[in-house]
Amino acid sequence: MLAQAVGRIGLGLGTQSLPVVVNALRRFSSDGVDELKKALSELIPEQQERLKALKKNYGGKSLGEVTVDMAIGGMRGIPGMLWETSLLDPEEGIRFRGLSIPDLQAQLPSAVPGGQPIPEGLLWLLLTGKVPTKEQAASVTEELRERSHLGPHVLKVLNSLPDDAHPMSQLSVGVMALQSGSHFAAAYTRGTHKSKYWETVYEDSMDLIAKLPQLAAMIYRRTYKGGVQIHPHHTLDWAANLAYMMGYEDAGCHEMMRMYQTIHSDHEGGNVSAHTTHLVGSALSDPYLSYAAGMNGLAGPLHGLANQEVLRWLKDLTAKLGPHPEKDAVRKYVEDTLASGKVVPGYGHAVLRKTDPRYTCQREFAQKYMPDYPLFKLVSNLYEVVPEVLGKTGKIKNPWPNVDAHSGVLLQYYGITEENYYTVLFGVSRALGVLAQGVWSRALGLPIERPKSMTMGTLEKRFAAAAAAAPAAK
Ligand SMILES: CC(C)(COP(=O)(O)OP(=O)(O)OC[C@H]1O[C@@H](n2cnc3c(N)ncnc32)[C@H](O)[C@@H]1OP(=O)(O)O)[C@@H](O)C(=O)NCCC(=O)NCCS
Repeated sequence: MLAQAVGRIGLGLGTQSLPVVVNALRRFSSDGVDELKKALSELIPEQQERLKALKKNYGGKSLGEVTVDMAIGGMRGIPGMLWETSLLDPEEGIRFRGLSIPDLQAQLPSAVPGGQPIPEGLLWLLLTGKVPTKEQAASVTEELRERSHLGPHVLKVLNSLPDDAHPMSQLSVGVMALQSGSHFAAAYTRGTHKSKYWETVYEDSMDLIAKLPQLAAMIYRRTYKGGVQIHPHHTLDWAANLAYMMGYEDAGCHEMMRMYQTIHSDHEGGNVSAHTTHLVGSALSDPYLSYAAGMNGLAGPLHGLANQEVLRWLKDLTAKLGPHPEKDAVRKYVEDTLASGKVVPGYGHAVLRKTDPRYTCQREFAQKYMPDYPLFKLVSNLYEVVPEVLGKTGKIKNPWPNVDAHSGVLLQYYGITEENYYTVLFGVSRALGVLAQGVWSRALGLPIERPKSMTMGTLEKRFAAAAAAAPAAK
């Protein structure tokens, strides 16, 4: 590991400044290749051969029929993308490189004995498909720490936004402020051979993942804590450092953040944030551009922003019905939500058909750390009422809770009460999955994405003509 130089930079905060790790020497020197990149580079040739064989042997096989309903219904159920880092089963939920959430908890290295996995271990797993040793996960922590420097312009850019800029807009703008440092964009301009694209995409992805906790904490502190920034802690792991820089030192909060950042990371490729990152990256837009685009999708209330919406909905429910509402009153509240033409946030899913295992994982955490917390009890009670009401509509395909139904409770318990910020924490985690896949997309040379669109007229003509040509039924 090359030596780190510790410097101080102004952040546009008058007399305040942050100590940062300045990493001027290690990038791209031949002996500076980090352990994870080395492991990845050894895997890439065999995976390239695997894809070649897949195309050669099965390229002409059909993956099924596409109906008009699917084309106009948000492409639901159309298999149309490769995504290596995770896979979603409608009944069982997510598996990260084949491992369920309980598997991750059992197998990935943790910061405390028997504790939650550290996301650095998950990143190793997502990139290599292999469970890292404790030392390998620690090497990722170290690598990210070395890359975590944020230039002083980032806070200046954020400070130029209106006071009421949503934290997700700040995240997107902050990431774009970092884009000028893209190694991939520079390498492309230099004319790098396409077989080398993945290398600078990896560098950008690691840089971005490293900087996100500081960026996210900066957004939190300038929005809610009067702009007083907290220096990174140079011995904490990536997720705990995020909580620490936000202003939370509680060991339970650090464990919660490790778990939170692990389980929100990836949910196969078709969801809006993952698909957007993938689509934009397929045009060879660099990881900053493609991840920022994905974050703008995550900021939608039917996707990641639902975690914010859940809290607003719960607060409104509590304001109207009190902190310990009767089940019948809750039932009526849910029915009123539906009758007013709104969705019940935190429930339903486009693919899942059972309770989201990410919900279950957070519930288990709450049972362990906050069993008597009133908001946890309320969320548990909702589980007994909401699915039944949603099920009665007859149209909602999955009446069960998703990840967003529970995450806010944990954050509230540890004092992170500003719900408009919650999607930023989701977004930091999502970087692990979408950027890891982005590295593989370039390593495998996946092409620019370009599905076919149709007009209503084309569909009408095509099927009206077929109906007219069909023999009349007797
Ligand atoms: C996630 C979600 C967008 C999936 O949408 P989908 O794949 O179209 O879901 P379905 O096929 O079950 O939708 C069928 C109908 O039920 C409705 N529906 C689904 N979930 C609903 C919910 N939680 N509350 C109210 N209505 C819901 C849909 O809006 C749709 O109504 P429409 O036919 O009038 O347009 C949807 O369940 C939702 O809006 N949930 C609430 C927001 C949320 O928690 N998002 C986070 C997801 S991780």
